Formats: sequence, C-alpha cells, structure tokens
Amino acid sequence: MRPSTLLLALPSMALAFLSPGPLHKRDSWGGSVSLGPTKSTIINAVTTIIPGAAPPTQNGMLFLWPGMSNGTGDLVQTTLESWPDNSWCGATTGQWCIRASLFGSFGQLDGSAGVVKGTDKVKIEYNLEADGETWKQTVTNADTGAALSSFSYKSGPYMRGWGTGTECNNDCTGTVAAQQYINTVITLKEADATFGNTIAKASGATYSGLASSSGGKVWTIKQIDVPSMS
Ligand SMILES: *[C@@H]1O[C@H](CO)[C@@H](O)[C@H](O)[C@H]1NC(C)=O
Repeated sequence: MRPSTLLLALPSMALAFLSPGPLHKRDSWGGSVSLGPTKSTIINAVTTIIPGAAPPTQNGMLFLWPGMSNGTGDLVQTTLESWPDNSWCGATTGQWCIRASLFGSFGQLDGSAGVVKGTDKVKIEYNLEADGETWKQTVTNADTGAALSSFSYKSGPYMRGWGTGTECNNDCTGTVAAQQYINTVITLKEADATFGNTIAKASGATYSGLASSSGGKVWTIKQIDVPSMS
C-alpha cells in the first residue's frame, strides 16, 4: 500500500485510515485538508460539500469524504461514491451516491443511500449525542433540508481528528471537477488553542478562513478547495 500524504500529515490517525472495510483497496489520493489530533476531543463536526460532477464513466471506485477518527477507534466517514455502475442508489451519469458510513473492527456499516448532483450542497454533520458515546451522522441537502442518509453508532467520546479525503481505489477514474467544502465548523469539548496549528493540506488542496472562537473551543474553516484530479 502506498503511503498517502494524508497519512503522513496525520500519523496518529493513520491506523484508522489504514483499517477500512474490505472494499477499500487504496491506490491513490487527491487533495485533502485535515486537522488533528486535538489535545481535547471533538464533540461536533459539520461541513457542506459541493462535489462537482462525478466522472461520466468510472473504472474503479472514487470516494469523497470528510472523515473523523482518533487513530485507533472507529472511523466516522460519510462518503460520496462513484462506482462503475452507480444505479444501486439511483444515480444517473455524473451523479454521486452518498451514504453515512462507519469503519471499525466490525468492517463497514452504512446508512441508507441517497443521490447527489454535482451542484448540490450536501451538509454532513457528525454529532456526539447526549449519551456521550453515540456518534450520529446526519446528511442533508443544505438548500432544501431533504434527508440523504444518516447513521448512529456508539464509537465513544474520544474523536481527535477530522479531515477530507479524495480516495481513488482499483485504478479509479479520478475526479473531473473540483470540490468545495464550505462553512466547516469543528467544536471541541474543551478549548485547544493549538488545534489550528495541526492543519495540513496535500495534493493541491487549499483552505481559507481558518479561525477560532470561544478561546479555541470552536474552529471554523470558511472554505476548502480541492482541485480536480484531471
Ligand atoms: C479512540 O476511541 C476508542 C473508543 O472510545 C478508545 O478506546 C481509544 O482509547 C481512543 N484512542 C485515542 C488515541 O484517543
């Protein structure tokens, strides 16, 4: 397996990113931006992705995701998916399938699948529920509020890193459009004034508007831009 720049940037999260489900033979990576590990823990992470059109034909599997982990536990990872045949979710040419997914010692668990157009704004929220153990993934169309997928699982309270991924498996056809992640907000349990220093970017991805409030408890990234792979 080829080490990815994301893994190099986030060594403490490498185990989680290297322990995916059986379908994930990871061949190459597009751009990414990531943060972590925090000295505190994450209690909420929300972003809105505008994915651009999926490739009109697909050779392998292409995945876009914001992922969250602590390096040893579960990987919370709502994923936009492009397969050679994407009709399993109802997608047509140029559209993505999307599922709230979880990777861990059990393999892969998924919520129901939805369809995403390239111009859609898709809000992906990870929230630590009131029991302090359950992570709920809520995926909605940011403009209409329509539900796209959701999934809940007791992955524990110690999430420490969040990052985007553009993952190309089995000699995939890479992205043919750029991605934007807008209005990313990561809320920590306690202030960590140095969390922003852990930000890393790879393979041409850029970010703007990194800021914190509440003394380093709430971190925002106004925009992340991931370039097209072709
Ligand atoms: C990651 O989370 C799991 C589940 O809560 C926990 O057992 C483990 O100690 C955590 N690891 C780190 C490095 O925080």
